Amino acid sequence: MSKKILLSNVSKTFTNKNGQIKALHRVSFEINESELLCVVGPSGCGKTTIISLIAGFIFPDEGEVVVDGITVQGPNFERPVVFQEDALFPWKTVKENIEFGLKCRNHDTKFYESQAKEFIRKMRLIGFENRFPSELSVGMKQRVGIARALILQPKVVLMDEPFGSLDQQTRYIIQEELLQLHSDFKPTVVFVSHDIEESIFLGDRIVLLSKRPGTVKLVFKVPFSRPRSPEIRNSSDFIELRHSIWHNLREEVE
Ligand SMILES: Nc1ncnc2c1ncn2[C@@H]1O[C@H](COP(=O)(O)OP(=O)(O)OP(=O)(O)O)[C@@H](O)[C@H]1O
Ligand SMILES: [Mg+2]
Repeated sequence: MSKKILLSNVSKTFTNKNGQIKALHRVSFEINESELLCVVGPSGCGKTTIISLIAGFIFPDEGEVVVDGITVQGPNFERPVVFQEDALFPWKTVKENIEFGLKCRNHDTKFYESQAKEFIRKMRLIGFENRFPSELSVGMKQRVGIARALILQPKVVLMDEPFGSLDQQTRYIIQEELLQLHSDFKPTVVFVSHDIEESIFLGDRIVLLSKRPGTVKLVFKVPFSRPRSPEIRNSSDFIELRHSIWHNLREEVE
C-alpha cells in the first residue's frame, strides 16, 4: 500500500500578542492510501493544527507534510475539510450547498444535479433539499457538510471532530454512514476525535498525541476487519483497547 500522507518531524509554534505557543513538536506519522486514521489527544495538544497543516491552511516551522509525494503548499479541493461547527453557506439551500464544489468545477448541470441527488439520498436528506442550513438539525447540517466534501470524490478527506456536537444516537448513526461512504469511495481519511470509542469504531489505526506541545505518544492498531457492525463495541477486544487508550490518554490530561 502506498503512503498517501506523510508528516515528517513537523513542529509548529504560533505567535500572537501574548507570546509564543508551541503546538506541535516533531510529529511524524504516515497514512496509507484509503486508510481511516484517527487522531486523539488532550484538548489543546495540536489536533486541529495537524488538520490545518495537512489541509495547507498553515505551514510547519520545521519538517514536512507530504501528500502523494508532493509537499503541501496550500489548500486544495482534493483535500476538503469537514469541521465540527457547520461551515455551510447559510444563504444556499441543502442542494445548493452539496452541489457547490461540482458546480465550481464547471461540470454540466445534469451531472452535478444527478450527483447531488445521489448524495442527498445517501445522507438521508430527501425532503430537505430546499431547506436552508438554519432550518436543519445539527446532525443534518453535518450530513450536508459530509456530502459537500465527498461529492467531489476526493482522495483525501480531513475531519476535525465532525460529530462532536451530536447527540449519542445521531452520532452512532452518522458513524455508520461514514463507514459506508468510506467503503464506497475509499478515500484516505484523517479523523480527529475527542471520543475514544468513536476512534476505535471508525479507525484502522489511532494516533495518540501527548499534551502540548503535541508529540506522537503511541499508535494503536484497531483489530477489527471491515465492514464493521455496531456489535463490536461490546466485544472484549474493543473494551480492552478502549481501556488501554484511555489509560495512556489519562496521563496526558492535566
Ligand atoms: N492561530 C493560532 N494562534 C495562536 N495560537 C494558536 C492558534 N491555533 C492554535 N493555537 C494554539 O495551539 C495549541 C494547539 O491548538 P489546536 O487547536 O491544534 O488544539 P486541539 O488539539 O485541536 O484542541 P481541542 O481538542 O480543544 O480542539 C493551543 O494551545 C492553541 O491555543
Ligand atoms: Mg481542535
